[in-house]
Parts: sequence; C-alpha cells; structure tokens
Amino acid sequence: MVKIDLKNLKVEARKEIKKTDNLKDLDEIFKKYLGKKGEITRIFNSLKKLSPKERKKLGEGANLVKREVEEMTKERAKELQEELRKQKIEKEKIDVTRPGKKLEIGHLHPLTLVQREVEEIFQSMGFSVIIGPEIETEWYNFDALNIPKDHPARDMWDTFWLRNNQKIPNPKSQIPNKSQILNFKSQKLLLRTHTSPVQVRYMEKHQPPLRIIVPGRCFRHEATDASHEIQFYQLEGLVVDKDISAANFKAIIEEFLKRFFKTDIEIRLRPSFFPFTEPSFEIDIRRKKGKWVETMGAGMVHPKVFEAAGLNPKNWQGFAFGAGLDRLAMLKYKINDIRLFYQGDLRFLKQF
Ligand code: FA5
Repeated sequence: MVKIDLKNLKVEARKEIKKTDNLKDLDEIFKKYLGKKGEITRIFNSLKKLSPKERKKLGEGANLVKREVEEMTKERAKELQEELRKQKIEKEKIDVTRPGKKLEIGHLHPLTLVQREVEEIFQSMGFSVIIGPEIETEWYNFDALNIPKDHPARDMWDTFWLRNNQKIPNPKSQIPNKSQILNFKSQKLLLRTHTSPVQVRYMEKHQPPLRIIVPGRCFRHEATDASHEIQFYQLEGLVVDKDISAANFKAIIEEFLKRFFKTDIEIRLRPSFFPFTEPSFEIDIRRKKGKWVETMGAGMVHPKVFEAAGLNPKNWQGFAFGAGLDRLAMLKYKINDIRLFYQGDLRFLKQF
C-alpha cells in the first residue's frame, strides 16, 4: 500500500516537474512535495505513528523519493535557467545582415569633379599639375606678364586689391630711396585675376622643357551674369621647349576636348590679344550647332614673359592657354547659369 503510494508520488512529481515551463511554477511544485505541508513532508511527519519496522521501511522509501524530487527539481531549474539565458541572448542578438541606418554622405562638387577629370586627361599626356597662390603680388599677376601699368585690367573695377601690410619706411626716420618705393609698389597684393602668374613662378624655378597645367580659383571685380562670376576657376596650361608651335597647341587642345566631351564639338580659333602671348587666340566651343561659348584664351608665350622668368627668349618657345573650368563644366553638363555652382543649392548639387 505504502510502497505504491510512494511510487505514484514519484511518478506524479516527475510528470509535474517536467511539465513546468518557468522557475516560479517549479518552486510551487517543489513546495507541494517538500514544503512545510508538502506531501512527502507529511509522510515524514506520520512516521512517528508507525511501528519501528514500518517506520524504517517507509522512512527509507520516503527519503529516496525526497532526494529524487530534489534532484529532479535541481535539474529542471538548470534547464529552465539555460532556456532563459538563451532567450535573453536571442533578444539581444544583433542582426548584422539588417540594413543599417543610412548616413547622409556628401560628394564632390561638380567643379571639383570636372577639375579632376581634366587633370587626368592632361596627366595622361605628360603634363604635371601645379598650383599657385590665390593671393598674388601685382608683379606676378601683371608686370611679369607684360601687362602695362595703365592696362584696364588693373583698374579697381576688375581687381580685388588687398590692403597691404607692408609699411612704407617712415620718411621721418628713414627717407625711402627710389628702389624701395618701387619694390613696395610691385609688392602690392591682390586676389589673382587669372592663373597665368603661375607660368612665371614655375619658369623661375624650373628649366624647360616643361609641360604643366595649373588649375585654380580666380577673382574679378565684375558684374555677375549667367556666364560671369566674381570667383571662378581657370585651368592654365604651359608647354615650353626648343621647338613648340601653334600647331602643337591646336593638336593638344583638340585631343583634350575630344576626350573631355566624348561627343562631337566644334572649335573656333579667333585671333585675339593678350599682352603675354604673341600671337594670341581665343577659343570658342559649341555643341550641336548651339551657341558659341568663349572658353579659353591662348597664344605663344611672349618673349617678355620668358625674360621676366629669367629665361632667354632666343632659346625657348612655348604656348600657353587659360581655360574657364566653369565654362567647360557648363558646356559638358548643359548648365545654363554659372551662378548655380556657388549657391550651394542641394537640388542642383545632388544631380552630380
Ligand atoms: C585670361 O585670363 C588669360 N590669362 C588666359 C590666357 C592664358 C591667355 C594663357 C593666353 C595665355 P580671359 O580673361 O579671357 O583670359 O579668361 C580666360 C577664360 O576664363 C575665359 O575664356 C572664361 O572661360 C574664363 N573667365 C574669365 N572671366 C570669367 C568670369 N568672370 N566668370 C567665369 N569665367 C570667366
């Protein structure tokens, strides 16, 4: 009788313990059997009423069941804890395959893109890319380029002059001599109006043969319209060697334009005038019978420029050109107003 009870108890307890799916229920079941009023506890409490023989027998049996229930509870608790741990990990797991939050990343400005493309084309034709200062002296921007003192380009309307930090020697303490005054005057600073001053800067330091391009920002004090800005980009080119002709210039520039536009364009060379080239040309470009756009000035390097750079004009010949990068970009991407480049309007910029 007693034996069967114990066996049943064990089977029942095992069933219940196995079925629990949380620690709280498990604790309840444990109490049901081994708590103060638990079924097994009750058996222990009833032992004193039994004969020594029966007490021993039942006592041993009940102890066995007690240990087994304890053991089973411990096991199940372990399992449930492990399940909990797994669930927690599952919840906290990071799915690395989920698409991330997109960061707004900017991109290069269309003029920078065009500049890089132009640089690549010229580099593949053996040109080095050189840069020069945006703040220039009057000497390099004008005098060294054979632009005389009374040239209209020096006018306050065309050029942004900078207030000069260099002081004229105080006449009271020291009377300036003529060369000091002349030196001071030629050191007047300005925002360069073109990239041509870099021609002289480079030739002062490098012996020909040479082949360079100079991309960079220029500034002019002039009214803006769809094709003129007060700041814009130019691309200077300079090739000097023993025997360079205008034919070389035409070949190089046609090759460049062909690679840059990758489509049929027409080029028009017009005679023009620049004090630093002789002869001089203006190059206009148009696409598909559209409007001619004045895109670059060019010519054969003037002997006076070689002299200013310390080279003997009898030994060297060369051509130079100055192209408007903005205008090239406008033609390439069919942009009808140069001012769009400088307004920072994302609707425009995001198209590149
Ligand atoms: C010059 O600046 C000469 N230094 C070019 C040169 C270099 C001639 C070497 C000979 C030898 P010009 O002022 O024409 O020339 O300007 C050259 C190009 O710069 C123009 O064809 C145009 O494409 C661009 N440009 C000039 N002014 C502006 C402006 N305000 N806004 C945008 N582009 C301009």
